[in-house]
Amino acid sequence: MNDVLPAETSRWQEVERVARQVFALYGYREIRTPVVEPAALFARGVGELTDIVTKEMYVFEDKGEDLLALRPEGTAGVVRSFIEHGAYVEGPQKWFYGGPMFRRERPQKGRYRQFHQIGCEAFGIAEPALDVEQIAMVSDLFGRLGVQTELRVNSVGDGNCRPAYLEELRGYLTANRDALCGDCKDRTERNPLRVLDCKVESCQPVLQKAPSLQDKLCPDCRAHFDAVRVGLDALGVAYRVDARLVRGLDYYVRTAFEFSSDALGSQSAVAGGGRYDKLVETLGGPPTPGIGFALGEERLVMILQELEKSGRRPAMTPPGPEVFLVSADPKGAAEALRICSQLRKAGIACDFDPRGGKLKTQFKQAERVGARQALVLGDAEVTSRQAKLKDMATRAETPVSLDELVAKLARS
Ligand code: HAM
Repeated sequence: MNDVLPAETSRWQEVERVARQVFALYGYREIRTPVVEPAALFARGVGELTDIVTKEMYVFEDKGEDLLALRPEGTAGVVRSFIEHGAYVEGPQKWFYGGPMFRRERPQKGRYRQFHQIGCEAFGIAEPALDVEQIAMVSDLFGRLGVQTELRVNSVGDGNCRPAYLEELRGYLTANRDALCGDCKDRTERNPLRVLDCKVESCQPVLQKAPSLQDKLCPDCRAHFDAVRVGLDALGVAYRVDARLVRGLDYYVRTAFEFSSDALGSQSAVAGGGRYDKLVETLGGPPTPGIGFALGEERLVMILQELEKSGRRPAMTPPGPEVFLVSADPKGAAEALRICSQLRKAGIACDFDPRGGKLKTQFKQAERVGARQALVLGDAEVTSRQAKLKDMATRAETPVSLDELVAKLARS
């Protein structure tokens, strides 16, 4: 779990600003749900047998003896809220959210136990055009941030075609059991689809020859996936079909997608999502199709940082104050406080050091906080109402009347 220090927050704010801008353009509105939900919500929603639920959730009993969990992802809580507030009666909804999620994973670069997601969930539309629009939106968002990603898409089928495929896959994996790693052996029974996701080198020969769900899709899933592809092509969104893209959450049907970046090392997924047309029903609501995704904010911020380091993106330094008031004596300090108050009322960022002290030290501080200009205030300046504005970069000084300072800075 990380602290995000002030030197880093401007990148976070930029990601959030651009995300909000893009979501508004596509008609998504913000929802905020609690960080804590009943643990059972995730077992039913995300899946009893997923790694997230079996191994990674922070679960605790509260004083009322309810079993609660820190949310490991956002979708289940948003769906709960959608149902609880009867939002389905109003027709289709497009919502976005952001905030901390918690998974007790083995930490490594790009993988943390508290991490932040920004995500979207769209309810009430089963048509593939929505899948296309949402995937294109994520691509648009990354494009605006100057981040290059690879998009992979797949169809994970549905209740019609997946069960027969899972049986076939399980049979194949069981026949090749000896060549699989321990995790894959375990998953063959519990969650065979996830075996396709295994990255262990020694499993690859078996996995490459495994039956592909792409070949077993029922006509409706086939037609849906083909329409998604046609739509993405029409919008010029580049992608690769990856028949082994299965995702780690059980609620997906049909479309699954993931955006990854090679700037990230082994944890390369920067966003992932897909359709979940049965989830609302599973969690007690009326049958309502849905599709969503979430992006990992830490990972996106890491990419921005890489781009800055290699000069492909301007460095993000938060803007410093327009002016730093340096006080030469107690009279100057009192005046500095008064002028700062006036400047701030006029919307001009400024600062001063109430401790006063050596002028040189105060100038150093002005430099450290990134002030554009400095102005020395002492008894002489307060009495004459005249002072000098010093440009911190060029060292050039301009005389200024203290009574006109606010107006002058407001104009510049
Ligand atoms: P997910 O693939 O589990 O999907 O997570 C989405 C993104 O969150 C990942 O691509 C990754 O960038 C980031 N992420 C996940 N775990 C960590 C971690 N431990 N540390 C840092 N970043 C992480 C979901 O959570 C689904 N709820 C997405 C969704 C929404 N599907 C439909 N609607």
